[in-house]
Amino acid sequence: MCSLLPFFSLLLICATGSWAMDVTMPFMEYLDQEQLVCLKWGFDNPVGDITFQLAVNTTGWVGFGLSPNGDMKGSDIVIGGVGSSGSYFSDQYATGNSMPLEDAQQSYTLLSVRENEGQTVMTFKRPIKTCDDKDFQITAQPIKLIFAYGETDEISYHESRRGTKEVNLLNYMPKSIPTNSSYLSAMVDNIIVPSNTTYYHCKVMKLPKLNTKHHIYQIEPVIDHLDLVHHMLLYHCPPKVTEPYDKPCYMGDIGDSCFGVVASWGVGGGVYKLPENVGIPIGGENSDALYRLEIHYNNPERKEGIKDSSGLRLHYTAKLRQHDVGIMTTGVLPGRVKYDIPAKANQFLTYAMCNTSYFSKFFNPVPDLQVFAVLLHTHLAGRKVRVGHFRNERQIDFLGIDENYNFDLQQTVSLGSIKTIKQGDEIVVECTYNTTNRASVTKMGLATTDEMCLAFLFYYPAINITSCVSIPDARGVPMDAEKIPVDKITEYEMMLKKAPQYQAILNSNHNTFLFQNGTVRDLMKTPAACQIRNTSNRFSTSWIVNLAGIILVLLWIILM
Ligand SMILES: *[C@@H]1O[C@H](CO)[C@@H](O)[C@H](O)[C@H]1NC(C)=O
Ligand SMILES: *[C@@H]1O[C@H](CO)[C@@H](O)[C@H](O)[C@H]1NC(C)=O
Ligand SMILES: *[C@@H]1O[C@H](CO)[C@@H](O)[C@H](O)[C@H]1NC(C)=O
Ligand SMILES: *[C@@H]1O[C@H](CO)[C@@H](O)[C@H](O)[C@H]1NC(C)=O
Ligand SMILES: *[C@@H]1O[C@H](CO)[C@@H](O)[C@H](O)[C@H]1NC(C)=O
Ligand SMILES: *[C@@H]1O[C@H](CO)[C@@H](O)[C@H](O)[C@H]1NC(C)=O
Ligand SMILES: *[C@@H]1O[C@H](CO)[C@@H](O)[C@H](O)[C@H]1NC(C)=O
Repeated sequence: MCSLLPFFSLLLICATGSWAMDVTMPFMEYLDQEQLVCLKWGFDNPVGDITFQLAVNTTGWVGFGLSPNGDMKGSDIVIGGVGSSGSYFSDQYATGNSMPLEDAQQSYTLLSVRENEGQTVMTFKRPIKTCDDKDFQITAQPIKLIFAYGETDEISYHESRRGTKEVNLLNYMPKSIPTNSSYLSAMVDNIIVPSNTTYYHCKVMKLPKLNTKHHIYQIEPVIDHLDLVHHMLLYHCPPKVTEPYDKPCYMGDIGDSCFGVVASWGVGGGVYKLPENVGIPIGGENSDALYRLEIHYNNPERKEGIKDSSGLRLHYTAKLRQHDVGIMTTGVLPGRVKYDIPAKANQFLTYAMCNTSYFSKFFNPVPDLQVFAVLLHTHLAGRKVRVGHFRNERQIDFLGIDENYNFDLQQTVSLGSIKTIKQGDEIVVECTYNTTNRASVTKMGLATTDEMCLAFLFYYPAINITSCVSIPDARGVPMDAEKIPVDKITEYEMMLKKAPQYQAILNSNHNTFLFQNGTVRDLMKTPAACQIRNTSNRFSTSWIVNLAGIILVLLWIILM
């Protein structure tokens, strides 16, 4: 895929039109005020490569780095360009405000570098986590990016052609919207938060009517009590839910069946902005639908009598974007089923699958689904969630991995690159639970003390399928979770994994089911925490070493 990328991307340098979405590098920032230095990037979650494309309006050398504090000292730098004797590129590190040194371990790979109309465009990649202590370790935190460039290919002091910008590469959110944009509010109104340590409030409501179709492009949390509100989810309800209400969740009300996630927020999260070419459709034909807002209040101090009016603002526009967003639920069919997790299990894994071959029974042809974000969901016993992507019987990718699942930090996570689900692909959702501190079995169900195992896939273009979930047919499993001795738990887990799966595919009316056989395929191990790049494919690094004479070192010695 990468071999096609340089040429393709060249046409799209920092274009901002909605059509210009680059699937391998969906993120873009100018690093300077004058907009002469543009960085695009994309990555493979969670432990893969990150690809950068630096475009600078110069025909000289270009440099880019990741810096601990915004200065050169201690930063991880690449320098490259197109010179009279060809292209050059090197992974370097800076020990001070002087000419950087070549890194013994070249973690960066040049994919292409070219000059076009006075602009140098350099595309390169590295593993997100390298095993080299000279490299800056990229995490999902804001990182100070530095850049510099020259007017010629002689690498020397950059004078004022330098700068710094802080960007969260792995958890990027574009700048916020104009403050006067229109929004719909999905809020609770002065509800009294009970003094229980954990409380779920549900409000089933109509949103203000929009007569024509609009697109939601941004979701903004409004938090009345930051110390209490732990997460909020807004779900779309099926047509059978017709009456609004405002009361505790999961008490057996009809609104418990509203399960199409529209928006989510979790502690630590902020405004979520959708990619520029897509929007969540709202209004028009489906404007009679009800929505369920679920707010989880965490009140460990058991404060009494607190009134809360928190919720979500859905910013919308009448200027429709290219694609409607669809949100598809995958994982273990929620409710109704017997797929019990034994008590006292140090770890217990559940599995579910979605075979997209069956989508063609609903409509044909089925478009490629472009997945751009994922929200993983279990309840309190969940410790890990992994979502595998299979094509032609082989796992080709993960659509999501959270090895440190935290119930209180449920957030829609943008993928570092758009991942394509083709008709016939299979999705496997694996959840790991820990029930060591539980005395009895945990059911798959809706209550917080029950468990769920779901992955909500945010994709475009939307198709009329809201869920593709499964459960194992446990009839052939000669064990009962309630009576299982601790040393047989793994055996029981394996029997359920090997059992045939009943698969259910639901459309937006929640009323079309299709059950079929199939068994879950094995997921590959999560890739290692850091990756050593094979040095045999080192790109020409000698050029820069030859140039790095004493004089150049001296020229560099001025603050970056
Ligand atoms: C930078 O170069 C590109 C390509 O030649 C050009 O389109 C753009 O206008 C230039 N930007 C500035 C700020 O000069
Ligand atoms: C809101 O923004 C739009 C376009 O950005 C502008 O035309 C309009 O006048 C603004 N409205 C207010 C009340 O500021
Ligand atoms: C709050 O706690 C009380 C006492 O334990 C319990 O009776 C009540 O059902 C709880 N309320 C909710 C909404 O969970
Ligand atoms: C499960 O939870 C218990 C109690 O919190 C903990 O001691 C144990 O290490 C956990 N097991 C795993 C596999 O993490
Ligand atoms: C989805 O498909 C069902 C059954 O074919 C149909 O009744 C329903 O109107 C469709 N919904 C949308 C939003 O297209
Ligand atoms: C699953 O397969 C078995 C045997 O191949 C068959 O008897 C059964 O009817 C199938 N079940 C469903 C729901 O398709
Ligand atoms: C998915 O469905 C296709 C078509 O029915 C079938 O060939 C394939 O084996 C199924 N995959 C699994 C894992 O059951």
